[in-house]
Amino acid sequence: MRTTPILSLLSAATAVLGEQYTTRKLYQLDPGTWIENFAQKGSSWYTRMTRLDSPEVLEVDPSHQHGGPRTIYTFPNATNATGIAELSTDNYAVLTLNGPPDNAVVSIWSLNASGETSATPVIENIEGAQILNGLAAFSPSIVFATDSPAGAIYRINLESGTAEKVLSGDGITPGINGLRYKEPYLYYTNSLNGVFGRIEIDPASGDLVGGTEVVVRGDILVGADDFALAGWTDAAFVANFQQNTLIRVHIVNGTAEVVVRDIPAPTTATFGSGGLYVGTSGTGSDGGASFWSVVVPDERPA
Ligand SMILES: *[C@@H]1O[C@H](CO)[C@@H](O)[C@H](O)[C@H]1NC(C)=O
Ligand SMILES: *[C@@H]1O[C@H](CO)[C@@H](O)[C@H](O)[C@H]1NC(C)=O
Ligand SMILES: *[C@@H]1O[C@H](CO)[C@@H](O)[C@H](O)[C@H]1NC(C)=O
Ligand SMILES: *[C@@H]1O[C@H](CO)[C@@H](O)[C@H](O)[C@H]1NC(C)=O
Repeated sequence: MRTTPILSLLSAATAVLGEQYTTRKLYQLDPGTWIENFAQKGSSWYTRMTRLDSPEVLEVDPSHQHGGPRTIYTFPNATNATGIAELSTDNYAVLTLNGPPDNAVVSIWSLNASGETSATPVIENIEGAQILNGLAAFSPSIVFATDSPAGAIYRINLESGTAEKVLSGDGITPGINGLRYKEPYLYYTNSLNGVFGRIEIDPASGDLVGGTEVVVRGDILVGADDFALAGWTDAAFVANFQQNTLIRVHIVNGTAEVVVRDIPAPTTATFGSGGLYVGTSGTGSDGGASFWSVVVPDERPA
């Protein structure tokens, strides 16, 4: 009972402050670094991420004072790491490239980050793929990936070690970039067309059901990269590297709004142990990739 007046004061204060999105840079990496993609699921403290400028996976634990970014794995025989998706606690699928952007060998690995991090190649050369970029886990053994220059979506079975192009055309065109799965939809962005869209997936088989559906299209999404799906509402938080913005897409009514304007060249977002995190490509004014925390005023823990 004694705490009641304090609680009501606190909630009054929260209601006022709560109208605003606030951002804070937590970590700055060295010049030349580029954070490409985040992976996080469930209650893990760690946000794990790939670097595009180097074939590395890093982790941060923003809840810990000494939890700053550290490299936990460097892929052999690769020049870049792109998509990363969590399959189960501490287990990830990771895409790498080896070679120049116009002629790279694309590989997919399974990475085990419990204890001493190790990785094994699942497919060393995904035939026909140009640059696999966004990666989303449908199940612990099936992932989907976007081929940005080719304009295609691949389905990769990690158990059988097979990859197949499942969609190209029908709205899936060059510029397709970020990819996340939330039953029953695979959500994607297209940076060139300014699109946030989705495709229904059969939750049992992993087969595509029907075609693509544009949720929002507009200039606000030109430059859209990876994104985080909210757990408490039907919304996506999209990093727009070209416009230095974070866009909130209201999936229910197909609208989008700019909610943050002060993060330089953001490339990816995820909901982690302390709310929404955003990573950047280190271009523009940033001088090295950076890692940000964003307070979303209406966020409720999942
Ligand atoms: C891969 O990394 C190399 C070295 O940092 C860089 O020159 C190249 O542009 C990167 N590839 C892509 C697709 O970004
Ligand atoms: C490196 O990758 C190339 C192309 O996929 C492959 O031919 C070669 O065997 C690989 N080398 C090692 C050491 O894994
Ligand atoms: C991951 O590695 C740990 C040891 O570091 C091992 O105990 C565990 O079984 C591995 N998990 C998988 C899925 O291979
Ligand atoms: C769309 O939905 C969001 C979230 O419920 C709401 O804030 C916004 O005003 C709606 N926009 C329109 C045009 O209905």
